[in-house]
Amino acid sequence: MSDLSFRPRRSVLYVPASNEKALAKIGLLACDAVIIDLEDAVAPEAKAEARKRLAGVFANRPAGREMVVRINPLSGEWGSADLAAAIACAPDAILLPKVDTGRDILEAGDALDDAGAPAETKIWAMIETPKALLNIGPIAELGRDPASRLACFVAGTNDLVKETGVRATSDRRYLTPWLMQMVLAARAGGIDLVDGVYNDFRDAEGFARECEEAAAMGFDGKSLIHPSQIDAANRIFSPTRAAIDEARAIVEAFARPENAGRGVIALEGRMVERLHLAQAEKLLAKAAAIGA
Ligand code: COA
Ligand code: MG
Repeated sequence: MSDLSFRPRRSVLYVPASNEKALAKIGLLACDAVIIDLEDAVAPEAKAEARKRLAGVFANRPAGREMVVRINPLSGEWGSADLAAAIACAPDAILLPKVDTGRDILEAGDALDDAGAPAETKIWAMIETPKALLNIGPIAELGRDPASRLACFVAGTNDLVKETGVRATSDRRYLTPWLMQMVLAARAGGIDLVDGVYNDFRDAEGFARECEEAAAMGFDGKSLIHPSQIDAANRIFSPTRAAIDEARAIVEAFARPENAGRGVIALEGRMVERLHLAQAEKLLAKAAAIGA
């Protein structure tokens, strides 16, 4: 029996921990997850102040939404203090930036264990360096060991462009091979993955197109920078009505007594195998979780 528990991660909004106005809005926004950012969105001179704000944010934590804290790298000057402050807030996950190897995940896991963080506190990893892409298989493989806490990858496309020198074209043609590597690795490791941000937040059409592409590529959702991007991401990363109807038809067909022992059946002129049944059950679990 496959695991049908499901956490939607269609819309994952970054909120800079230095921006009080934005932080105050979290409870009003319909995103699946929020990443309170202590890293790139916060200027060096604002780091300490931003870190102090975490406790207040989590004190008014909205229900039914994943709350993640992105810390600075543990190898740098702010990371350890960020991690301690984050753990004190009992977030759903810590998002590690600039992960290069599996060791980065294991070290953060050890720090969480040492601090007595509960097993429910997961680790998410930014995939945004050339080294991470070269090591992506072994990093993702940690997802198979619950003790590693690894639960999700977030593509860091802006950093990848910066680090590699590829041109950031609107069709993402030079990034796509790497994004597909992330998809493959995440599935091999049994973890979720969230696409990178779309910087031009006034361009709703371009954003929707990029979400459609990411959904087709196998991403679970998109990381967002602005509230105006939430609705489109929720819609595009949800199963369509037609897909839900088809999944129901497959489940019903296999439930018929005459199909009980069969591995493969015909449904409306198409071959349907048990693997499609598993796929259909997964889709229906996802639809149920998001109330589709
Ligand atoms: N989360 C919550 N609320 C946000 C928000 C966010 N990420 N971005 C904007 N808002 C709020 C603003 O506070 C503003 O509220 P107001 O109406 O009470 O003034 C409202 O949405 C409209 O914002 P707008 O004026 O359109 O944008 P802006 O110019 O204030 O901010 C950005 C634009 C890009 C600076 C801002 O969206 C942002 O900081 N995004 C996140 C960036 C980030 O975290 N980057 C790191 C990861 S890539
Ligand atoms: Mg980054």
